[in-house]
Amino acid sequence: MYFEFINSVKICSGENAIENIAYELDFLNCKNPMILSDNGVFKAGVLDKVLKILTKNDVHTDNIFTDIPADSSIAVINEIVQKYKQSGCDGIIACGGGSVIDTAKGTRLVISQQGKDILSLSGNEVIKKGLHIPFIVLPTTCGTGSECTAVAVIKNHETGIKMEFISSELLPDVAIVDARLTETLPAKLIASSAMDALCHSIEAYSSAQKNPISDAYATTAIKLIVENLPKVLSTPTTESRQKLNLASTLAGIAFSNAMVGIVHAIGHACGGECGVPHGNAMAVLLPECMKFNLDKCEKEYAELLLYLAGADIYATTKTTERAKKAIEFVIDFEQKIQSLSGMALRLSEYRVTQDHLPAIAKKALNDGAVIANKKQVTYEDVLSILTKCM
Ligand SMILES: [Fe+2]
Repeated sequence: MYFEFINSVKICSGENAIENIAYELDFLNCKNPMILSDNGVFKAGVLDKVLKILTKNDVHTDNIFTDIPADSSIAVINEIVQKYKQSGCDGIIACGGGSVIDTAKGTRLVISQQGKDILSLSGNEVIKKGLHIPFIVLPTTCGTGSECTAVAVIKNHETGIKMEFISSELLPDVAIVDARLTETLPAKLIASSAMDALCHSIEAYSSAQKNPISDAYATTAIKLIVENLPKVLSTPTTESRQKLNLASTLAGIAFSNAMVGIVHAIGHACGGECGVPHGNAMAVLLPECMKFNLDKCEKEYAELLLYLAGADIYATTKTTERAKKAIEFVIDFEQKIQSLSGMALRLSEYRVTQDHLPAIAKKALNDGAVIANKKQVTYEDVLSILTKCM
C-alpha cells in the first residue's frame, strides 16, 4: 500500500483562539492583510469580533472586501487581486464560509503563482510551488472543512461551470477554529453544515483512497459530531460548539486526503440542477447511498458503528449486523436532527421533481467524486437512489 497525506495547516482551536491572530500574522510577517468576508458574516457582527482584535494589536484593517457572492467567482477573484496589489497588501485573512474561503484560496493562488488570472491556472500540473503569501482562515460555518482542504471550487459565471482546483498550494498557513465564530448561525444551517461534515467523514472512511491517517481524522470527527450536534441544536454551550467546529475541520482533513464518494457526486448534481443546498443534499442522500454501498463497504461501516453508536452498542451487536446497524443509526440520528432543527429530509421538499431526476443522474456520473467510491455506480443505480430519496 502506498499513500500520501498532507495537512500543513496550523490549527488554533478552543478558548480565545481568535486572539492568536495577531501573533500568527506577526509570525508570518504580515502587517497589511487583505481581509475577506461576506455581507452576511459582516451584518451578523462576526467579522467585528476579528477586526476588534486586529485593531487592538495595531494590525492594518483598511483593506476589507465583503462583496463575495454565495458562489465564489472568477470576476470577484480578479477584482480582489487588483485591490490587493494596489493596496500593497502582504497577506490574506478569510473570515467566512465555503465561498469566502474558496475566493481567498483563488486570490492567493493568482498572487503566489504570479498568474494573470485564475483561469490561467486551471488544468493539470499547472500549479507549482509559488511565492509564499501569508494566509489565515477563520471558518464561520461548521461543515465545509475548507480551512484544511487542498481544494477550491470557483465558478465561471460566463459559462456557468464550477471549476475545481486541487493543490497543496491552496492550504492556508493557519486555521482559527473558535466557537464565537459560529454562535449566530441559525439551527438549520448548523444542522446542514454538520451533516456535510458527517458525510465527509463517512465517505472518507469508506473511500477507495482511504489511509490509516485519514481514518484517524474521520473517526474522531464522527464521534465529535454525534456527541455534539444534538447538544448544539438543543442546549448549546461554548464547549459543544467548539467540538462541533473542530469536527468539521478534522473531517475536512480526512476527505482532502481520502476523497469523497457518491453522496457528494449526486449531491453536487442536485445542487447544479435544482439548487438543493449542499449540506441538505448530503443529509437526504447519505442513508440511501450507504445502503447502495453496503456490499462493498461492509467492513468499514461495521467499524464505524463504534464511533457512531458508542462502545456498548458496538459490543452487543453481532459482527455480521454491525454495518446494517451503522446505517440504521445514521437514519435515526438524522431524524433526531430533523426534529431539533426542522431540516427537510426528502428531495421533493427542495423542489426536486421526478422530471429532474434523469438530468441529475447524468450529471452525477460525470462528477469527480464517483472515482473514489468503492462500488462502481451506473445511471440506473443513481436514478434508483434518487427515486428512493424523493
Ligand atoms: Fe461536502
